[in-house]
Amino acid sequence: MVTGKLITFEGPDGAGKTSALQAIVAEIQPQLGDRLVVTREPGGNQISEAIRQIILDRHNTAMDDRTEALLYAAARRQHIVQKILPALQADQLVLCDRFIDSSIAYQGAGRGIGEQAVYDMNQFATEGLTPDLTLYFDVDAAVGLQRIQTHRQNEINRLDVEALSFHHRVQAAYLALLKQHPERIKRVDASQPLAQVVTQSLAIMQTQLPQYFTTEGKSKI
Ligand SMILES: Nc1ncnc2c1ncn2[C@@H]1O[C@H](COP(=O)(O)OP(=O)(O)O)[C@@H](O)[C@H]1O
Ligand SMILES: [Mg+2]
Repeated sequence: MVTGKLITFEGPDGAGKTSALQAIVAEIQPQLGDRLVVTREPGGNQISEAIRQIILDRHNTAMDDRTEALLYAAARRQHIVQKILPALQADQLVLCDRFIDSSIAYQGAGRGIGEQAVYDMNQFATEGLTPDLTLYFDVDAAVGLQRIQTHRQNEINRLDVEALSFHHRVQAAYLALLKQHPERIKRVDASQPLAQVVTQSLAIMQTQLPQYFTTEGKSKI
């Protein structure tokens, strides 16, 4: 039986998902201990990591957009079977950096395959497994890219118009998902300083899944 909960972290590149996730884990790990599982996509096990290498390999310039979408879904399938589902069956709280909404936004809208097509194809991979809560890190695509560039010394000035339009399509798709699933997807203002992003994220997690966050004797959140 699936009694655990799945929280996914979504948003454009450079929104601060990974940074916030690390800070959140540091905050809640002492309380949750072994009940907490932290993972990311694509990856999380040997097979999914191998698929990840194929997706990211710069030599694979011939890769078709649908092939890319299928590979992400295949990696997701293996991740669910090997890691996420066993954790949920063991009543654990799973925090996952990117999940199905990334495919809908990046492959569906960014690559232009179509959000519905990518959603439908992913149902085969997930057998309907849906996150209990999704934190959407909302920041302008240009701001996210700027943050990444600032910290990647070698790749300054590589941002071109086409890249930005791709990221704008991704962002628009995310915002549409936010509108379509107000119960599941909650907006975090990711333009704030990291500490405030973390505070807002923790507050949402506590409100939505209070069973994991007893504040007994503590007032961290
Ligand atoms: N709230 C924030 N304000 C300013 N910079 C941030 C913030 N959150 C993260 N960053 C910086 O932006 C860059 C991208 O952050 P990261 O967490 O890797 O984003 P993501 O995982 O969403 O792509 C990192 O260099 C990080 O230090
Ligand atoms: Mg990241």
